[in-house]
Amino acid sequence: MARDIEKLSAEKLPESSKILARARKVLLSPQVTGPFRAPSSVAFVKQAKGSRIVDFDGNEYVDVTMAYGPLILGHSHPVVVAAAEEAVRNGTVYAIAHEGEVRLAEVMVDAIPCAERVAFTNSGTEATMHAIKVARARTGKDQIAKFEGGYHGVHDYAQVSSILATQMGPAEDPESVPDTPGIPQASVGQVMTLSYQMPEGLEKIRKHSHELAAVIVEPVPSSYPVDMSDYLRELRRVTKECGVLLIFDEVISGFRLGYGGAQQRFDITPDIATYGKIMGGGFAAGAIAGSADALEPLITSGDPLRDMQEKVLIIGTFSGNPVTTSAGAATLEYLRDHPEVYPHIDGLAERIKREVHAFCDKNGIAFRLIGLGSWFLPHFVDGEPKHARDLRGLDNLLRGEILGAYMRYHGVYMPDLHTVFMSAVHSDEDADRVIGAFETSLLEMREDGAL
Ligand SMILES: Cc1ncc(COP(=O)(O)O)c(C=O)c1O
Repeated sequence: MARDIEKLSAEKLPESSKILARARKVLLSPQVTGPFRAPSSVAFVKQAKGSRIVDFDGNEYVDVTMAYGPLILGHSHPVVVAAAEEAVRNGTVYAIAHEGEVRLAEVMVDAIPCAERVAFTNSGTEATMHAIKVARARTGKDQIAKFEGGYHGVHDYAQVSSILATQMGPAEDPESVPDTPGIPQASVGQVMTLSYQMPEGLEKIRKHSHELAAVIVEPVPSSYPVDMSDYLRELRRVTKECGVLLIFDEVISGFRLGYGGAQQRFDITPDIATYGKIMGGGFAAGAIAGSADALEPLITSGDPLRDMQEKVLIIGTFSGNPVTTSAGAATLEYLRDHPEVYPHIDGLAERIKREVHAFCDKNGIAFRLIGLGSWFLPHFVDGEPKHARDLRGLDNLLRGEILGAYMRYHGVYMPDLHTVFMSAVHSDEDADRVIGAFETSLLEMREDGAL
């Protein structure tokens, strides 16, 4: 008889189940209910340390979510905790000048090829929103272009054609479609959607260059992290030729695909890059970096009256606060001084992918861990996708959710159909447990008729 994995999980989670009942009365957050479903069991985290999390019922998991990317040094790394504690003792937020902001900006300018100057925000969403605004101010043009399936956060210009939609037009010339209700048609109309890897996208940029301020792109698509560097090189050439700014959204790839992020790994320098996640050391953070020329609308002249009229205002009460900048700088300095972190995390991901793929091939299971470096996603497909549309099948989505539930039951905290991140503190033993959980879960899913 088929297992009911949700029911079995709930039996292991009596205390968490009580919290879930409370949550359902007051919370709408997808962190609790999952973005696409209302599960009957949720493990609530009580503690996290290194690569492990423990829930309210004392179940321990190898965490491969790693907060969707920021925790490249694992949970509560001593160096980061010390930096944050020292900052907290001296005041958590000033909203006035402090040295920590300068220190983090200096480390970032040193690390990031395109960065001559940096401005801080509180999230990746704010970073992409402001980057778009700056590009418009710099070029005097309103339209922006993004790629189908590209995720840039949740502001009105980002929630266009990033996730599943039934109406998307022809693959080589996608329509711009709002991701959710509540996005004004006027915003959607300012966003052109392109298809990765297709020459038609580059043609569209040429054709619309007179109205196009910028192209924003995840240099490695977060939902199918594969190497598209040849296409990116073409994109860089065409945008430069056409006077359109190129924005790399490095919210995930920054400091993960190597210390200098995707732009260093691929040796392609954008005009502007956006950051979040790792650069905040586990605290809420975001940043825009770029050449002084591209970020000119942010560089004040010293004449307040003129600046008030001519300059783009990026401010936020908590932007660049002392706790975030202290933890962020400690994290980045650690990565700078420990280059061995990158081969370690990439090697773990490589081994997990290799062994799980061999297992699937042996057992005739159409399943791939698709990723680059220390970052991959489970997909129920046969080969590597070229376009976001290759992954759009509902089966893939639903099976990914079910797999998440089996993996958690087997002691690996993996989110539903989402990204797996390795960290410096994941060990070979953790990787063994992850491989074992994938293998057992996939076999059980097949036995239970979920494959
Ligand atoms: C590529 C990319 N851009 C932007 C964002 C938004 O960042 P945040 O969640 O900090 O708002 C994310 C978040 O996952 C992301 O992956």
